[in-house]
Amino acid sequence: MAKSHVESRTRTLLVAFLVCAVCSVIVSSTSVFLEPRQRANRERDREEKILRIVHGHEGLADLLSGLSGVTLAAHVVDLATGDSADHLDPVSFDPRRAAIDPLLGIALPDNRDPAGIGHRSRFSVVYQVESERRIILVVLPVHGSGYASTMYGYLALGGDLNTVAGLTFFEHGETPGLGGEIEDPDWLESWIGKRVFDEAGKVRIEIVPDVVDLSSSDSIYQVDGLTGATRTCDGVTALLRYWLSDDGFGPYLERVRKSNEEMP
Ligand SMILES: Cc1cc2nc3c(=O)[nH]c(=O)nc-3n(C[C@H](O)[C@H](O)[C@H](O)COP(=O)(O)O)c2cc1C
Repeated sequence: MAKSHVESRTRTLLVAFLVCAVCSVIVSSTSVFLEPRQRANRERDREEKILRIVHGHEGLADLLSGLSGVTLAAHVVDLATGDSADHLDPVSFDPRRAAIDPLLGIALPDNRDPAGIGHRSRFSVVYQVESERRIILVVLPVHGSGYASTMYGYLALGGDLNTVAGLTFFEHGETPGLGGEIEDPDWLESWIGKRVFDEAGKVRIEIVPDVVDLSSSDSIYQVDGLTGATRTCDGVTALLRYWLSDDGFGPYLERVRKSNEEMP
């Protein structure tokens, strides 16, 4: 009786071990097997967000779907130089993880961190729409602190690298109805056509506390504020100004500007 009790416990443990072993083989091989599909899904998700912004650009969606020679491509860029970092894969590169990696990220001192992000990756993934070797649209990932969260979005600039072609926020934790209105389609549309730099190259884009005075020459750089969300709006202004500055995409924008100028 005692022996069969021991035997049944051993058998139970053996069966449990076998079940665990079989399950872990199934889980790990499924994970390996599905990796390419997950990777493709991640890329599709990212491209959908980009395409949403591209569709806001007048005529561009038609160009992309109807014309050969117009391409949308992701590139990893070195923010310090603005050059492409071709050794990094834009699909798998994760700037959020890189921001806190000792080799890939940098800590930002308070006096160089107007967007309140603390750390940032030395590299970023940008999207370029090219036609006849000219870059006609760039889509830049931007992020920064708002009232209650870090806001993540994309800013698209036209081929002059100055005119806003679109702005979108895809992740934030601002209050619905207040700061959460940064997702309001009408408000986001009001950004289209605004200029980010003045003639001297100074970053001027901003959200004003109330309503833009359209008779002012500054109105080309200004967008209406959102009611009850001054701190969110100040955060959006600060993050855009940071990412457009020389500490952000400034060197990259300069490189694209030069390469466009060199094209006939
Ligand atoms: C529950 C709660 C949620 C809030 N959410 C936000 C927000 O998302 N964004 C923001 O800028 N301010 C937010 N605030 C702050 C106030 O809306 C804001 O400081 C104050 O009302 C000033 O209004 P104004 O933005 O029109 O100047 C919140 C305040 C409370 C109590």
